[in-house]
Amino acid sequence: MAMAEPNEEMRRGWAESASGWVANERIVDHAFVPVTGAVLEAAQLGPTLRVLDVGCGSGTLLAAAVERGADAVGVDIAPGMAEAAQARVPGALVAVGDAQTDDLLALAGGGPAFDRVVSRFGVMFFSDPTAAFGNIRAATSPGGRLAAAVWRSAEENPVFTLGSGPLLERIEVPSPAPGAPGPTALADPTRTRGVLEGAGWTAVEISPLDVTLDYGLDGSDGVEERLAVTLASGTGRIATAQLRPRMPDAEWAALLEAAREEIRAARVDGVVRIPGAVWVVTATA
Ligand SMILES: C[S@@+](CC[C@H](N)C(=O)[O-])C[C@H]1O[C@@H](n2cnc3c(N)ncnc32)[C@H](O)[C@@H]1O
Repeated sequence: MAMAEPNEEMRRGWAESASGWVANERIVDHAFVPVTGAVLEAAQLGPTLRVLDVGCGSGTLLAAAVERGADAVGVDIAPGMAEAAQARVPGALVAVGDAQTDDLLALAGGGPAFDRVVSRFGVMFFSDPTAAFGNIRAATSPGGRLAAAVWRSAEENPVFTLGSGPLLERIEVPSPAPGAPGPTALADPTRTRGVLEGAGWTAVEISPLDVTLDYGLDGSDGVEERLAVTLASGTGRIATAQLRPRMPDAEWAALLEAAREEIRAARVDGVVRIPGAVWVVTATA
């Protein structure tokens, strides 16, 4: 039997979730503004630098890098993400690839090594994180800088589940083991330091960043925005696939209303604002 490609399950999962992610890009970008700002500041971007965005999604950091005059390259394992990023940031080069296993300079069409590697929540999904960060370092020039945002623990991040409560009462969603590929894979800073140092990075710094994720867009209270993100998440997609076909319209509508109720309860001053707990990780190649 042929061996499965590393990260095959993640590749499939992200390929399936790409359209939902892209559809909610404005909402997510608005909520993640403080995280984006922190990564950009930590990366010390500047004109003429060659920048790699790992797990670039629909291209938020790429757009910011190009605005700052960088020569920006994005890599993402999900074709739908890479296509969206390329359309959004024509001035960048975006490739479909696995940052753990692909030759990243070859994906970028050759050229010099990267001066900067950035990522907003794109580096927690590797089956072998040490191999992945080693592969990324191999494409980075000596002295080049890594700046990435990764989530702290699920307990500190109600954003992972807000609005999912009523869905989770009706479906089974496997929760990943600590450290397994997924949003909290790099939540333990001791492990993250070991991974990066094991991959040859130096001057590793892991700093906590506490943010408020604001879902209110264009003056809204953020409830519909947050519901849209919840339904596009892994839990939301499993719930929609399993429950929607067998639920009468009224029952499905009641389930969504229960999800809204849970989200409404999280409003602060009338707007859905969720605390977020992030690590900003920097290191030198
Ligand atoms: C949480 S999303 C973040 C997307 C984007 N950085 C943002 O903040 O909007 C994680 C991204 O990492 C990508 N990804 C996951 N595993 C990857 C891998 N091994 N190589 C490259 N990209 C990967 C996913 O396809 C997805 O686009």
